[in-house]
Amino acid sequence: MILVTGGLGYIGSHTCVALAQAGYRLIIVDNLCNSKPSVLGRIRELAPDATIEFRHADLRDRAALESVFAAHAIGAVVHFAGLKAVGESVEKPLLYWDNNVGGTIALLEAMQRHGVRRIVFSSSATVYGAPEYLPYREEHPLRPESPYGRTKLVIEQLLADQSGSDPDFRYTCLRYFNPIGAHPSGRIGEDPRGIPNNLFPYLTQVASGRLAKLRVFGNDYPTPDGTGVRDYIHVMDLAAGHVTALRYLEERERSITANLGTGSGLSVLQVVTAFARLIGREVPYEFVSRRAGDIAAFWADASLAARELGWRAELGLDDMCRDAWRWQTQNPDGYA
Ligand code: NAD
Ligand code: UD1
Repeated sequence: MILVTGGLGYIGSHTCVALAQAGYRLIIVDNLCNSKPSVLGRIRELAPDATIEFRHADLRDRAALESVFAAHAIGAVVHFAGLKAVGESVEKPLLYWDNNVGGTIALLEAMQRHGVRRIVFSSSATVYGAPEYLPYREEHPLRPESPYGRTKLVIEQLLADQSGSDPDFRYTCLRYFNPIGAHPSGRIGEDPRGIPNNLFPYLTQVASGRLAKLRVFGNDYPTPDGTGVRDYIHVMDLAAGHVTALRYLEERERSITANLGTGSGLSVLQVVTAFARLIGREVPYEFVSRRAGDIAAFWADASLAARELGWRAELGLDDMCRDAWRWQTQNPDGYA
């Protein structure tokens, strides 16, 4: 059985469907601090024949975690649970260190007690910090610029230390670039609380009339059209990447840290234009000043994942736009 922490969240829910469809039995642990209970029903609906159990618990609740490990024969962990808002992490660093690092330590202790030695971890491209060169390769210097990013880096180091102490402990750190899109059914997708911080959920909410106008943060960056460039990756490709990473841990006697991106960058204006074309109407936007802390451009060198894991992103911007729009129109208020 696979323990999926944070499995009711955005990336976790899509990955649970992919894992279940690949034949894995799942136990999800989530404290619902950034997700809704109804996600579970949607996951089960998309994988009706699978065993998908759920435990409402916080990773830092050691007694609850112990009872999950005691009650299930867990073979490996896919670890999504964490807080992820960069701005909030600057305001509340203790919360981020406690939740992300403290939660991971509690998880690793329970794994150790129960002899579980395989983990796939959600890291982020944010561990690189300001680019010294692009695309980022995995050996690029690691200088995250926010408390959130530093918790991700420290967890990567913790996993390396743990495997140093136990040669049979193996991990994959997956450094995600910018995940967007939704399951093609329109049943699961991204449901941010309040006004979205990230480009894509903001854009779909402007298109649906929930928000008035997209603010494009900066049009004077040293990029082809002056707007920020990112490596947007379809969440279904990302989900497939986790299935591949888990198989790698089962089959290969080593750990790996790999970028999960498409390998190419798209500007804010390219995304807005593609999205407007796809939905058949203009999306109102205006240029405003740069957002503090933003990097002009970054994208992945995705060749290590291709070479070592045999994984590549297959879906393109039109798929991301179409699937995000289907999710938005079918669920205008997100999950009930
Ligand atoms: P999300 O907030 O939708 O999902 C995280 C889930 O973890 C939520 O359901 C939340 O309720 C749960 N959770 C948080 N703390 C917990 C705790 N202490 N105990 C139990 N459950 C807890 O976020 P997401 O976008 O799906 O991201 C998943 C992971 O991927 C996170 O670790 C995030 O840092 C990382 N990541 C996300 C992105 C992105 O752009 N979405 C990019 C890079 C990395
Ligand atoms: C954010 C996080 C980063 C995380 C990444 C992946 C911050 C500072 N960084 O990065 O840690 O790993 O998401 O999800 O939050 N944009 C607009 N208008 C908007 C929103 C965004 O123009 O309303 C622009 C941004 O300036 C940027 C691009 O769109 O150029 C993408 O922004 P966003 O979706 O927030 O992702 P990142 O900034 O890459």
